[in-house]
Parts: sequence; C-alpha cells; structure tokens
Amino acid sequence: MSKASLEFNPLALCRANVRHLEPYTSARDEYVANGNEMIFLDANESPYETGLNRYPDPLQRSLKALWAAQKGVSESQILFGNGSDEVLDLLFRAFCEPSIDHIISLPPTYGMYGVLANINGIENVEIPLSSSFNIETEAVLKALSPQSKITFICSPNNPSGNLMDFKAVTQIIEQSPGLVVIDEAYIDFTTQDSFCTLLEQYPNLVVIQTLSKAYGMAGIRLGVLMASSEIVSILHKIKPPYNVNIRTQEQAALRLSDTAAVQKEIREIILERNRLEKALVAIPFVQELIPSQANFILVRVDHAGQRYEQLLEHGIVVRNRSKQLHCDNCLRFTVGTPQENKILLQKLVSLA
Ligand SMILES: Cc1ncc(COP(=O)(O)O)c(C=O)c1O
Repeated sequence: MSKASLEFNPLALCRANVRHLEPYTSARDEYVANGNEMIFLDANESPYETGLNRYPDPLQRSLKALWAAQKGVSESQILFGNGSDEVLDLLFRAFCEPSIDHIISLPPTYGMYGVLANINGIENVEIPLSSSFNIETEAVLKALSPQSKITFICSPNNPSGNLMDFKAVTQIIEQSPGLVVIDEAYIDFTTQDSFCTLLEQYPNLVVIQTLSKAYGMAGIRLGVLMASSEIVSILHKIKPPYNVNIRTQEQAALRLSDTAAVQKEIREIILERNRLEKALVAIPFVQELIPSQANFILVRVDHAGQRYEQLLEHGIVVRNRSKQLHCDNCLRFTVGTPQENKILLQKLVSLA
C-alpha cells in the first residue's frame, strides 16, 4: 500500500460543512416493517393502498443485498443514485470546495464530469489522453495537488471505447491525495475485472457502475457507487432521502436476479460489436476505427457532418463526436440488434 493510501482520511478530504452536517432523518430511516402487521402513521403518507402510497426504503436494503452478493462487496460499500449522474454530482458536493478545489478529467471523455464541475463552481483541470486515447500518466501525476479532490478515469472510455491501462490507473490511484473515480459504465462488455475488487487495497478508490448499459435498464435510472464504507457514509449524509423510487428498486432487483438473460444479451452485443467492426473497416469512407471494449464503436470517416446527415435522412441516428479532442470527423455508433446493425451497414455501403 502506498504512503498516500495509508494516510488517506475521507473525512479530512470532504467539505467542512459536510463533515459537520447532521443529515435529515426520514421517517423510514427510523423504522422498517418487520413482517408483522404495523400501523404506519409516521410519514404523512396516504393510508389508501395504491401500491405506491408508501415512501421507498431510503437505504434500498434488499437491492443492496443483491448487488453486494453479485459484486463481492459489502452492503456498507454501496450507494445507489438516480442514475450515475446523481452519484457523480454527490461526489462533487461532498468533496469539492467551490473556487478552491479542482477535479482532473482526461478528455476526450464523458461530458458530465465537466458539466458537473461547472454547475458546482469547481475548476476542471483537463489532462488530454494521447491521440491513441491512452492516459498520459506523467502529465496526470504532475497535475496532482492537495486541491485535486477527484480524478475521473472512464474505462472503457466514452467516446473512444478503449480500456485504460491498468498500471497507469493504479499508479494514479497510489499517488493521488484525493479520490480517484473509475467510471465503469461499460465494464460488462469487457473481459477485465472491475476495479471494485481493489477497494480494500485502495481507500481513495471509487468505482461507478450503472444499470443503463449492459443491464438494459436506462429508463429506471439506477447508478451505483462502490467505495470504502467511510466514503459511502459521507455521501449518505447528503443524498436526498428517497432518491431511488419504489419502481426502480423493484425493477432493478428483478433484472439483477435474471443473470442468464443479462449475460445472453451482453454476449450478443459483443458478437455484434465484433461483426460490426469487421464490416465497418471495409467501408471505403471509413478511415480509422478504434477497437472497442464497450457497446459502441468510434469511427473516423471522410466527412462526419455529411455522413451524419445522410444517415439521418435514412432514419438512422448516430452521434457526431467531431468536436471532441482527437475526434475530428468521428462518428460514434451504438451497437444495436442484429437487424438494426444490418440496416446500418446496408445504408453505409449504399453511401460509399
Ligand atoms: C461513461 C458514462 N458514465 C455514466 C453515464 C451515465 O449513466 P447513467 O445512465 O447511470 O446516468 C454514461 C452515459 O452515457 C456514460 O457514458
């Protein structure tokens, strides 16, 4: 364990007002039904049964038990949010002092880190990835200071789809005075283990996953943060009490229990991704393709704007990422169903 890790104290790192905060305690924090017939007159809910007349469990206990068992972490190491975007925002609000602290992000990457930094009045120090989308480790290490409260590493990265080098990531974790957040939204499409297996080793490590991608549940909005129980309890102090609604908790539990269906879809998406990659490089106006470990593929074409419009005319919506660093003339294609991918390829061939 590095020297930085041994000295790491999340309470010293967080904002002073959060350190001293007495969290709001909701009625349902104080009491949970124990299976006996109870009369609940504590939370000013309607007594009439609609299936949704009661507040959800603010600590999402049964969902946490399921997630903990599947990911090999303890329940106290989990925080659920209304999508990953909410847990990302909670990290800013707990740990970054506006106008004093900064975050480090590695463009081109997921845009919300920068947006949340702006919203929260936090400087976003950008250390660009190399032109082949790898971490410039020395430059990141050089940028670290006591005010670097959070470093965001997206792996596999959006929009490039590649995994970040394991050694580079661990070096940054070991030398960071602040938190290092590994955003693993697309981890299920790779063969690499999640960084959550290293939580015991690195007290400043935070891992974020989501049900929006491989689990096929973007509509319910469930993001998951995994970190030490000390970091999680700080975030629990500031999270809105009922941030994950009853329907989301129910639907997430059902989906998590259906491991076979989830795994089957992941295998199919990976097969389709590999098939699409082979077909895309054969298209004459495709100039470069970044091999992907995610459920999308970044492709450099001759004229991204023109190709984007042509696809749109054929009823196909893709993402033009040309404005992002190192992504001139790049389109990002999400892997669809075999039928959707077939249509996409037919249209691309017809445009060539
Ligand atoms: C890297 C990355 N993180 C997080 C998210 C957002 O996930 P959620 O739907 O859980 O808010 C996305 C969505 O595209 C993403 O690409």
